[in-house]
Amino acid sequence: MSTTRPEKIRINDLHAFYGESHILHGIDMSIGQGELVTLLGRNGAGRSTTLKAIMSMVGRRTGSIVINGTETIDMPAHKIAHLGMGFCPEERGIFSSLNVEENLMLPPAVRSDGVSVEEIYEMFPNLYERRYSQGTRLSGGEQQMLALARILRTGANILLLDEITEGLAPVIVQKLAEVLMQLKGRGLTILLVEQNFRFAAPIADRHYVMEHGHIVEEVHAHELEAKTELLNTYLGV
Ligand SMILES: Nc1ncnc2c1ncn2[C@@H]1O[C@H](COP(=O)(O)OP(=O)(O)OP(=O)(O)O)[C@@H](O)[C@H]1O
Ligand SMILES: [Mg+2]
Repeated sequence: MSTTRPEKIRINDLHAFYGESHILHGIDMSIGQGELVTLLGRNGAGRSTTLKAIMSMVGRRTGSIVINGTETIDMPAHKIAHLGMGFCPEERGIFSSLNVEENLMLPPAVRSDGVSVEEIYEMFPNLYERRYSQGTRLSGGEQQMLALARILRTGANILLLDEITEGLAPVIVQKLAEVLMQLKGRGLTILLVEQNFRFAAPIADRHYVMEHGHIVEEVHAHELEAKTELLNTYLGV
């Protein structure tokens, strides 16, 4: 992390469990304000579990997770959301029986600086055009934009995003890259689980590589070229 940025997330020796299954084996990471950091790894490496563990959505976790200077390891999930954390799970979590605008009006503001519906429509003109369409009638890309928009409505300023580009057309992926850069420019902090390295590489400041519940490598954007071969070995591409 650059030393000039305030630290937004600091994780030390994080272990996570689902029942008897021990999934994360002592994770350490640190993310500064305005940074965009990715979690890379093969299927089953523990990337989604890391995001869920940060949100306290696993069976049990031990170690230390400091968010904005506050130790959260003993906090329940709803209190963690109130620290400005926005989590977009792999399954997106929009209300498919409601229309776009209803979905946007629903999220509780956890902080005062939530993005207004007008601003959301500026950011995502597609959502404006589809504002009276029911969730079930949206394309995958529109659903993903709506999921992200709902998180921004809450005023979250630390985003944990799980595979948001999965299965989306290149033009939507490009749009999401632009929006993430815009959010980063506003000072939001983003931790991104991503398979699509072509999407992640140009927008990320740093990458953590996970294997079997461990972080095995940290790669800064400026080291990407030198470490391409190493990354390919880890990711099996
Ligand atoms: N609810 C659960 N109960 C028990 N084990 C789980 C649960 N969720 C995940 N796991 C296990 O934890 C390990 C890590 O899963 P995780 O979902 O974090 O992987 P991932 O890196 O996100 O990969 P992918 O999304 O490609 O599956 C896997 O072995 C998985 O089977
Ligand atoms: Mg996953």
